[in-house]
Amino acid sequence: MIQHPCTSRIIAPSLLAADWSRLPEECSRAIRAGADWLHCDVMDGHFVDNITFGPQFVECLSKTNDIFLDVHLMIERPDHYLPRFIQAGADGITVHVEAQHDVAETLRRIRAARCQVGLALRPDTDFSKVVPYLDRIDLLLVMTVVPGFGGQPLIPETLDTVRAAAAHREAHGLKYHIEVDGGINLATAGMATAAGANVLVAGSSLFGASDMGTALSAMRVA
Ligand code: DX5
Ligand code: ZN
Repeated sequence: MIQHPCTSRIIAPSLLAADWSRLPEECSRAIRAGADWLHCDVMDGHFVDNITFGPQFVECLSKTNDIFLDVHLMIERPDHYLPRFIQAGADGITVHVEAQHDVAETLRRIRAARCQVGLALRPDTDFSKVVPYLDRIDLLLVMTVVPGFGGQPLIPETLDTVRAAAAHREAHGLKYHIEVDGGINLATAGMATAAGANVLVAGSSLFGASDMGTALSAMRVA
């Protein structure tokens, strides 16, 4: 597993926007394009109004690719399913602060499994809700759209949360990555990194690009 410092730019194409009828080729396309991580959006139809895939799918990805699997659990009971995603080969696991679980305990279990520890918040959740956990995470995922579907425009107010997260990290000498997820394209990537984000999740703008390598390289310097 590659550990990047929180200052390096990490591009994580989201498989939600891939052509699932050609999944192995789509993974290879992202990796050849220079992806650092593959972002896997797990949705249960309860926490969000959509259903995607579960641990078996992540296991297939893990068996066929060496790349870091950044697993974003948009599910109501991340604590219940956690062991299965760990077993499946997730490298990083991100859980939502709004889900139904003992957040501190779930984060502790992700750490104990030697996975990268991630915590996420929705656009309408106040930054103060994640503050108690920031000293024990590797990554804060700021949802820049309402979770559930790809292809939505970034909500500009969410960048205030990114700024608050960056200021808190600086003030407390912490090192967590700040990841933005939703509506990231060449234009918004620059806004998000200027606000303090260093991990960019991008679905439609990368998988929809005719040349993903060119699109991804441009995003790296946006
Ligand atoms: C929403 C997902 C999306 C997604 C990114 O729940 O988490 O944000 O993967 O998709 P785009 O880049 O198309 O907004
Ligand atoms: Zn996501």
